[in-house]
Amino acid sequence: MSLDLKSLVRTIPDYPKKGILFRDITTLIEHPEGFRESVERIAAGYRGEGITHVAGIEARGFIFGAGVAIALGAGFVPVRKKGKLPGETIGQNYALEYGVDTIEIHADVVGPLHKVLLVDDLIATGGTAIAAVGLLRRTGAVCDDAAFVIDLPDIGGAAKLKAEGVTVSALMA
Ligand code: PRP
Ligand code: ADE
Repeated sequence: MSLDLKSLVRTIPDYPKKGILFRDITTLIEHPEGFRESVERIAAGYRGEGITHVAGIEARGFIFGAGVAIALGAGFVPVRKKGKLPGETIGQNYALEYGVDTIEIHADVVGPLHKVLLVDDLIATGGTAIAAVGLLRRTGAVCDDAAFVIDLPDIGGAAKLKAEGVTVSALMA
């Protein structure tokens, strides 16, 4: 029988703010089979699609994105919070379900010859992912695919990302 990945994700109420149901993936990644299966199931959807790079969003997107990049034989692009990258950067502000932040990538990390898959642990409002896709596209790269471990469809982020011309997949809702 296939592993029930959703049962390995823990939900913590009122973190980091009252009213937020926090989906905690640490319980998924501490489970050896759960972690491996999560990465493998994401990668399986993109084999043979010509993905040159996987972009992972700091911090939880690094965990899954790096694994997917290795599984696909692709490079890894860190999408980092403001001020962390040493080279010339381009950045984008965005609103979170519980705050405001800025993400950055190196300006020269990818370009018109590249096809990038965005990977993150979770999509809620979609603000983070839409900002990341916008940044990656500003380089001239193709970024028309995004994969998440968890989609929170009631919050509507995946629908907004699809409206940007991105094909969205998720392992669970
Ligand atoms: C979380 C999550 C996604 C984002 C999703 O990251 O890992 O990146 O929020 O929310 P959205 O769809 O409403 O934009 P967070 O900014 O909390 O950072 P972390 O990974 O460092 O914990
Ligand atoms: N990022 C944004 N919303 C979240 C949630 N409900 N659980 C975990 N991470 C999140």
